[in-house]
Parts: sequence; structure tokens; C-alpha cells
Amino acid sequence: MTDIQTTLTKTPKALPPSDKLGFGNYFTDHMFVAKFAEGKGWYDAQILPYSPIPMDPGASVFHYGQALFEGMKAFRQADGKVVFFRPEFNHNRMVEGAARMCLEAPPLDLFMEGMQQLVKVDERWIPSEPNTALYIRPTLIGTEGFLGVRPSKETMFFIILSPVGSYYGEGSKPVKIWTEETYLRAAPGGLGAVKAGANYASSLKAALEAKKKGYAQVLWLDVEHQGIEEVGTMNVFFVFKNEIVTPALNGSILNGGTRDAVVQLLKDKKLPIVERRITITEVIEGLQKGELLEAFGTGTAAVISPIGELHYRGKDWLINNGQTGDLSKTIYAEVTAIQSGKLPDTHNWITPLA
Ligand code: COI
Repeated sequence: MTDIQTTLTKTPKALPPSDKLGFGNYFTDHMFVAKFAEGKGWYDAQILPYSPIPMDPGASVFHYGQALFEGMKAFRQADGKVVFFRPEFNHNRMVEGAARMCLEAPPLDLFMEGMQQLVKVDERWIPSEPNTALYIRPTLIGTEGFLGVRPSKETMFFIILSPVGSYYGEGSKPVKIWTEETYLRAAPGGLGAVKAGANYASSLKAALEAKKKGYAQVLWLDVEHQGIEEVGTMNVFFVFKNEIVTPALNGSILNGGTRDAVVQLLKDKKLPIVERRITITEVIEGLQKGELLEAFGTGTAAVISPIGELHYRGKDWLINNGQTGDLSKTIYAEVTAIQSGKLPDTHNWITPLA
């Protein structure tokens, strides 16, 4: 079912200034919504003016947190062409996440058509300046109103769009990260590997406390407070003298699309990239011995964010003297050049706006 009914807004908004976008502060004129009910299938797919969504106050999303989302971007390339970066990856991840969250995943054609048609309708919102994009937020929620604890028999799939610049207030400058040992983001067997809203809810308190101390985000460790997991808004890479390490997908780390692309690009360069368990002790020892040369985070929102400082147990460790490292610069330039069309898309990551 990809029959989408479209109702255009009568009051289009003024575009925000593209040098003041930040992340997620503005929403476009329209949204896409489709519904699913057991025994009925997907129905009522629509593009309509961006507006509040009427919902039963008993909906499972409000009480039992049945919510899952994705993050993608559309880019306006130099010749004006609009492209999406890896939407099939995001659809796959939504399918896997929906199974874990007992929600109904939208079929590929509904996901793609909803995204394509919505971005077409709101095409004027896609910024073209360097470091900007149209962020796409496909979301799945349980909408059935009931209070027994069981999966909702109804799912809503909606997509909203937000023109964005840099995720962090620091822009492309290295960020300061707090290594978290009090709170936990995820545990084995939990929701950490899927993009459940609940993972972000569980991260808020630690992020708030870290922010008050001057850190942009927290580095999450595993239940033993040893294994490095991720930053919550991004996956992490550590560049040592002899190898580049990113934590292996252990079931509680999100399988990031940018992480996956960066692993591939590093392999293309024949650089020694290893996906394995890496501990905070190892990272601190690497800093003590001068063997940890740089660190960076990867994410759709964060793109490639150099990490300039890491706090661990009362001490702030400068990484690469607080400066952006050479590999972070190279990888950032490469990923953004593929997205902007300046480098060929040899891995089939780009989907054009139809
Ligand atoms: C993304 O990079 O798309 C994310 O979802 C991270 C964060 C903004 C929630």
C-alpha cells in the first residue's frame, strides 16, 4: 500500500536562517503519517500539514514506552540534486528494532514512498550550505489505548523533517566527553541495540549532569563499568598508534549507519580498523603512554565529531592536545564529500530524490 493522500498547508512557514539552524529546532511545513491495525494492515497513509497528532491518552507509547525512531539525512548537492544517505540501512534497522519493541514495521515501499513524497513536498526546506542537511525522523509508536501490559495492536508510523546544522554547540570543534560510571544506558538483553526512545530517556539524567559540569555528552560503559559502549548520540572510534578500534556490536550498542560507513571507508584505505571489545582502562593507558592519537564519534546527527577531552575518575585527559586529529579530518571530509556528490558513491549509499 503506497497510495498516499496529500493535503498541503495553506500557511507555509518562513524558512529559518541557515547559519542559525542548530539541531532539531525547526520543523518543516508537512509530515507523513500512516496507521496499522492488527487484522486491517496499513491504512490511511497521508501527507498533511505539520500539526499535533490526536491520540488516545491510554496509548501504549505514553504508558509503556512503545516508541522507536530512526535518523536519516537528505542533502542538496552542488548541482541542486537532492539525495538521501543510506535509507535502506535505516529501514532495515527499523524492521529489527520494531521486532524487539513488538511494533509493526512499515514495509520498505511505504517507508521509502513516505520519505520520498514528504521530502518532495518540503523540498524548499533542504538547506544547501556546507554542514547543513534536512534531518529525517521516521518514528513508530504504539497507539492502542489500553492499560494491560502487552504489545499494542495498533502502530502509527510518522515522518517529520527538520533542517539542521551541527549537532553540538561546538560546531565542528572537538567535544568534551564525560565517562559515566553512575548511570547505565543499556544492559545485555535490553534495548541498547535498537533505536528505542527508552534508551534516550535513560540517558537524559547523566547527560544533564555532565552538561552542568561542562561536558557535551557522556561515554557509556557496560555493566562492569569497563567495556566502552557508545556516546548515545554517536558511536565511538579510538585511533591508536597501531590500530583503530570501535566497540564491536555486542547487543547493547546501536548499529550506526555512519559507524558502518566509516568502518568500510577505513577498510578501503587498508587501515587497521578492528571491531572488538575495548575497555576504558585500555583507553586511559593509551593516553598515558601517548599511544592513543585521536578519538571521534560518528552518527547521522553528529556526522564525525572529534573528541578533544575525556573525563575519567576526576581527571580530564586531553586527546590530540584537544585538537581535531588528521584521521578525523580525513574521514569527515570523505563522508561529507560522498553525501554532497564531490566524491563518487562507490558503495551505493546514495539514493536520489525521485
Ligand atoms: C541520529 O544521529 O540520527 C540520532 O538519532 C542521534 C540523536 C540525535 C538522537
